[in-house]
Amino acid sequence: MSSIRETWEKRAKANQYDLAGVLFRNLSIKANKAIHNWHWWIVKQILLPRIPSGGRLLDLGGGYGRLGSLVSRERPDIELVGQDLALSYCRLYRDVTPCVQGSMFSLPFAEASFDGVLAITCLMYGQHQVFEALKGIHLVMKPGGVLLALDPGKEMQQVISFVRRRKSESPTGGIGFRLAEYISACQRAGFRIVSTGGNPFLSMALLMPGVAASSKQKVEALLAWVSRRDQFESGYSALALHRWMLGVKESAATAFIG
Ligand SMILES: C[S@@+](CC[C@H](N)C(=O)[O-])C[C@H]1O[C@@H](n2cnc3c(N)ncnc32)[C@H](O)[C@@H]1O
Repeated sequence: MSSIRETWEKRAKANQYDLAGVLFRNLSIKANKAIHNWHWWIVKQILLPRIPSGGRLLDLGGGYGRLGSLVSRERPDIELVGQDLALSYCRLYRDVTPCVQGSMFSLPFAEASFDGVLAITCLMYGQHQVFEALKGIHLVMKPGGVLLALDPGKEMQQVISFVRRRKSESPTGGIGFRLAEYISACQRAGFRIVSTGGNPFLSMALLMPGVAASSKQKVEALLAWVSRRDQFESGYSALALHRWMLGVKESAATAFIG
């Protein structure tokens, strides 16, 4: 068993449906909820409107179905398929929908069989082979299909590790990507980038002394306020801890709006 898989099997067993298992272990529940709400906003507003009724959506590295369960409630007309490296997470995900255990590097799906792929903090575990993973994802998508990928930014990870005096890599073996390398890996794999974003406002707020670990009501209000800024103002910046992009597998002209 790979060491990344072992780590995730242990995490899944220890954390089950806990947000801290798939988000940040050292953040307060309020801070993780703010990140979770922002992730869901992107999925709901940016990805789901592009998935046709009756379409198939793959939740790659979907964990226990944190976002998948919301997708299936919001869009019961979509056929959602889960996938994760950790069997323990797949078992939890199966409460929502079928979930296949395996690696993003060898997807057991037919070519051109998905209208969309959701990859939230998953490609980061592809580490320096992320391009290989993206090529496999591209293969299982239909022309015109959309990929929503969200991963940590390397620049902000380094700032945080400097401030907090700890390693910049994630404890579960993931890495962050630099601004240009994330987009370029996606483009080289055959995706046209149509939209991008990030959470620089929330990232800066979490760096303020006492905020990340606080469970105070006023901190919750602050995090909700900054997250709204991240929704409506372009945030694909070096200051964002999490950055996302929406890529389309097609050659038809599509405007870049991010
Ligand atoms: C940070 S969690 C995110 C889970 C889920 N996407 C979410 O946002 O709630 C990362 C997930 O990626 C999975 N993972 C790690 N390496 C993977 C790989 N090579 N293929 C598929 N999934 C992988 C882990 O098991 C874990 O569930």
